Parts: sequence; structure tokens; C-alpha cells
Amino acid sequence: MFSVRVCIFYFLLTFTSGSVEEEDPEFWRSFAQNTLRSALNRRINSNVAKNIVLFLGDGMGVPTITAARILKGQIQKRSGEETIMNMDTFPHVGLAKVYAVDFQVPDSAATATAYLCGVKTNLNTLGVSAAARNGVCRSQKGNEVTSILKWAKDAGKSVGIVTTTRVQHATPAASYAHSASRKWYSDADLPPSATEAGCLDIAAQLLRNTDIDVIIGGGRKYMTPRGFSDPEYPTDTSSQGQRKDGRNLIEEWIRMKEGKVARYVWNKTEFDAVDPETTDYLMALFEPGDMRFEAERDEGMDPSISETTEKAIRILQKNPNGFFLLVEGGRIDQGHHASRASMALQEAVALDDAVARGLKLTHEDETLTIVTADHSHTLSLSGYPFRGSSILGKSPIFADDFLPYTTLLYGNGPGHEIINNKRPDIRKVDTTDKDYVQQSAVPLDSETHGGEDVALLARGPMAHLFQGVYEQNYIAHAMAYAACIGQNQQHCAVTAKPEEITYTSTNPGNSAAVKHTGALMVVAMSAVMSVILH
Ligand SMILES: *[C@@H]1O[C@H](CO)[C@@H](O)[C@H](O)[C@H]1NC(C)=O
Ligand SMILES: [Zn+2]
Repeated sequence: MFSVRVCIFYFLLTFTSGSVEEEDPEFWRSFAQNTLRSALNRRINSNVAKNIVLFLGDGMGVPTITAARILKGQIQKRSGEETIMNMDTFPHVGLAKVYAVDFQVPDSAATATAYLCGVKTNLNTLGVSAAARNGVCRSQKGNEVTSILKWAKDAGKSVGIVTTTRVQHATPAASYAHSASRKWYSDADLPPSATEAGCLDIAAQLLRNTDIDVIIGGGRKYMTPRGFSDPEYPTDTSSQGQRKDGRNLIEEWIRMKEGKVARYVWNKTEFDAVDPETTDYLMALFEPGDMRFEAERDEGMDPSISETTEKAIRILQKNPNGFFLLVEGGRIDQGHHASRASMALQEAVALDDAVARGLKLTHEDETLTIVTADHSHTLSLSGYPFRGSSILGKSPIFADDFLPYTTLLYGNGPGHEIINNKRPDIRKVDTTDKDYVQQSAVPLDSETHGGEDVALLARGPMAHLFQGVYEQNYIAHAMAYAACIGQNQQHCAVTAKPEEITYTSTNPGNSAAVKHTGALMVVAMSAVMSVILH
């Protein structure tokens, strides 16, 4: 049976092929030679990074990047696989090891603490070291760790957070809060013991800790008093304010910024009217909780992540000392948890669009741009689909149970179903629908994270520091070094003599290049020696 199906497979294969030009070996040779030429022309950029833009795809593992790339191409009516995403053009790539101190497979709070604060920690905790215990308020005292957002602000830069989730969610929260639990969004979420021990909810810390210039995302209901009706959904009780302490943090924030031009907006009309040239501070909260999926966004009410990224950069870049901006595509993760691959991939495509916007508004000479993920998911891309097959489609041959399966599957999640000892028959199901739930091997209400390494792509000053395989907490240290902020400021001195450390590979006669090569040889030899000696 197996061989019959394989025969059918190869029979079909002879009737499908890529474009005619791909049959010509010269196509692949000249393509590769072009790639080689640009690799040889690559210049080490050892400038001090005036600005840092960190694009974080929550849950954007490598299978998600590949599948989003194919989807992006197919949206543009191409085969898809050969598409070059904006993030694909970044010259330096590395792999980050994502495990938490206490768990092999991590969550967004522990990982954000690693790549923002430079310290690995325990699951569910943020802005605290691993000496703090999940959910135990008392254990966080004295174990707080600060983030690159604060280091940048302390160095005189402007700072911002842009997300598609609530701004109190794990990823942005790790940039400004210290919490033994990522779930303490408002004071109503704190257990009595934590309130008694004096822990402060994440929303309250948004105002208290680092002075953040731009705050964009969702999360209004954690900022307003219990029962406070939401401006967009006035009759919906679940959208009402949640705070037990009666505080209105939005009004408090506006009062705190008196004397500055500070704008609070909650819809797109008001957002579009914000003039970045004259605005010092912006808080934009577009939903009571998380923002909507890009595929379900009301374009009249909420801006896209590209639009929010642009507004943030335009406000922040007025500072002559530069800026640090975290942009989170936060709902890739939530699409995956629901095993709605279409949703997750469209979120990843939207993030890649935002990357293009960021590159357009900044200069590679002075802005370090990074694209990475906090952790992966159980998504797999498999089954020998033909070239150009819809990434949301089905395998050309059936499985051993004589039923089709989709190219995208999850290791676990809500898509597991067995009826009469069989998987659901999807022959008549439109698996490309945005609401389709992909099948999984193991039944779980919510699909889990994946624990494999995540990719990091870097461009701009000191982007070469991100090559190799490293612990995720290294990222914060390398970003800070590039910008000459935080713990290690030796880079400020290094760039005083840029001619000795920059070189162009296309000019091998250049004496600086020779000097650099010599230094590299020494480094390489000492690395070999240390391998031999240890
Ligand atoms: C947007 O917000 C402003 C300020 O609260 C409000 O006056 C306006 O009606 C809102 N627009 C929409 C379309 O809801
Ligand atoms: Zn998650």
C-alpha cells in the first residue's frame, strides 16, 4: 500500500514543476553568485547604536517564519517558498537557547526577562531573578532586575513599547515591571497575601517605574476602576474597568505629564490626529484587553502594527540621544495556542510588514534592528506538499488511515479529535479558512509552547555580535553594548577609532582589513587552544 501511494506521488510529481527558469542550472548558479557577492560586500558595522528597535514575535519559532514567508508570497499571488521577507534580508543570524531556570520549555515572562533584563529566571515571573518564586510576592523583594528599557532611559534616550496584546502582558511588562506573577495585571488579580505583602500590580507599575515616552497596545480595563464603562463597548460588562483600588491610571498618567505634550487616545481617529512632531508622550490603548487579530481588525477603529510602529518611531526619534523601542507581535502566540495557524501566520506577516516600516524610518548606520522570538510552538510544516501548494492546504497523498492531513499540524492542542477510531475527515473542509483549527497528536485545550532554539536576525551597529548559538539572556547584554548603555560601556571607547575596526571585504589590500584579519586569527587560534586545553 505504501509503495502504491509513493508511486502515485511520483506520478503526480512529474506533472508539476516550478517555473521554467528554475529548470536551468544557470538560474541557481547566478542566484547563488549574487548572494555570495552581497555576502562578500558585507561591512562590519561597529558604530555605536544610537537607536535600537527590537521586533519580538511572540511564539514566532522557525516553522512559523517559514510558513509566514510562504503565506506572504501566496497573498501576493506567487508560489510562496522563494519569497524574501523583510526580516530575511538581515545580514546576521543567530540562535538563542530559550529554556527557563526551572523549565525546559519556557513562557513569555521568563524569556522576556532574559532578553530584556539580561538574566534568566523562572516560569511566570518577570523583572525578577530566579531567586524569586512564581506567585510568591515576598520572594520578589530584593530580587528585582532592571531592563534595557530602563538602561536606555537612564542614558538619556527616549523609550517606547508597542504591542498587539494588552500593554500589561508578559512581554512588554518585563520591560518596566517586577512581578512574581505575570498574571497580576491589575490589583484585582493579586491574591490577598500578595496585597498584604505590598506587591504592586503590573498596570500600577507602568506609571511608577521607568518614565516611558510611548505606550501603545491594549489593556484599558486594568487601568480604570471597577465598573468604569469602556468608551468603545459601554454596555459590555466584561470590558469594564477592573481596579479595586478605585484608581484611574489613565487620568493619573495624564496629570503626571502636566507641562509636557502628553496624549491619551483609544481609537484610530484620535491616534491619526496625534502629531509626532509636537507630542512628547503618547499612551494609546485600543482595546479593554488584547487588540484584535490583524485578520479581524476593524480598520476604522484600530491601527495596524505597522502604523503603531511608525507613530512610535516618529515620536521617539526626536530625541538627539536616540531611542529604544520594543515592538511586539504578541498574538502570533495566541493564534498558535488556539491552533488557528492562519491567524498566527497573518500576525507574523503583519509583524514583518512593521519591520519594513521600521527600516524605512531609520538608518542602518545608527540603528540596530533585531527580529527574534521569545519561544517557539509545536507547529510543524511537513508532508511533501507540491511546490506552490497553499501553506494552509492538505498533503497530496493520504495518511496510513486513508485520510488527508494538512501541511501545518501541531504536536498538541485543541485540534485533536478521534471519532470511531479515526481522525476527522477533512476532505470537504476548507482548511484555508481563518478559523480552521489544525489537528494535533495530543489533546489539550491550549496548544503549548515549543522549547527549541529561536532565530535572531540582526542589522545595523554591532549586529555581528548576534551570530552563533547563545543563551537568550545574552541578547540584552549585546544590545546594550552596541548602544553603549548599561553594565558594559567599553564600546564607547572602541568607536573613537572607527578606521581600525571597520573594513570592506571587497578591498583585501586595505591595511585595516589586514590588521582585522590578524586579530581574528588570534581570536580563532585562542579559541582552538581553549578547546584543546579544556
Ligand atoms: C474617538 O475618541 C474620541 C475621544 O474620546 C471620541 O470623541 C470619538 O467619538 C471617538 N471616535 C469613535 C469613532 O469612536
Ligand atoms: Zn504563549
